[in-house]
Amino acid sequence: MMRTLAIDIGGSGIKTLVLDESGQPQTERNRVETPQPANPDLVINAIVSLANQQGEFDRASAGFPGVVRAGVTETAVNLDPTWIGFDFAKALSDRLGKPVRVVNDADMQGMGAISGQGVELVITIGTGFGSALFLNGKLVSNLEMGHHEFRNEETYEQQLGRAALDRVGQKKWNRRLEKAISSLKNLFNYDRLYIGGGNTNKVTIELPPNVKIVPNVSGLLGGIVLWRD
Ligand code: BGC
Repeated sequence: MMRTLAIDIGGSGIKTLVLDESGQPQTERNRVETPQPANPDLVINAIVSLANQQGEFDRASAGFPGVVRAGVTETAVNLDPTWIGFDFAKALSDRLGKPVRVVNDADMQGMGAISGQGVELVITIGTGFGSALFLNGKLVSNLEMGHHEFRNEETYEQQLGRAALDRVGQKKWNRRLEKAISSLKNLFNYDRLYIGGGNTNKVTIELPPNVKIVPNVSGLLGGIVLWRD
């Protein structure tokens, strides 16, 4: 049986879990706080020690909180600037001694959450604001909407990220989320919108029927999809 180590790198925590070929978890999820500074060396060390507690695996999939192109991390707003231009897939593969695939964290979250039919938009609300758009199960693009202007001359991430939630409180943050959902509905005319990420437990607004909160673990479950080709 082929075992895949799924890795979710976030601004506040790093999580891992082993999946079987069908994407079923084979181990308990483990987690450590994201090291500070969150540079490649320290983050890779943290992943290796989590991996050592997960037992055997044959390959690994990582969701990274920034733009990733062919395994190279191009942005890392909530980690550390030293990630820019870093060949993360290669470095992690060298350390783990296994093949590694790396994608954006919202893309991986989406792969673990979508139904595969029609226009499906995924946003993640955690330390940052992640976004990914799928058409009939295929990723169209990681949108980087987090850094796109939303309202009051602030981006989605500035309005809805962890720092904003801490600053303005849950009530105001929920009103902003409601506005974001209706603005995204007009922009994408999606069939379904999925909301994931570490702060989904703070959502108190009533959601339209085609908008769903997805469990945080889908950030890891999406790891199997990276190997489906
Ligand atoms: C990054 C995205 C990422 C999101 C969630 C943003 O700051 O630019 O790439 O998906 O945070 O982690």
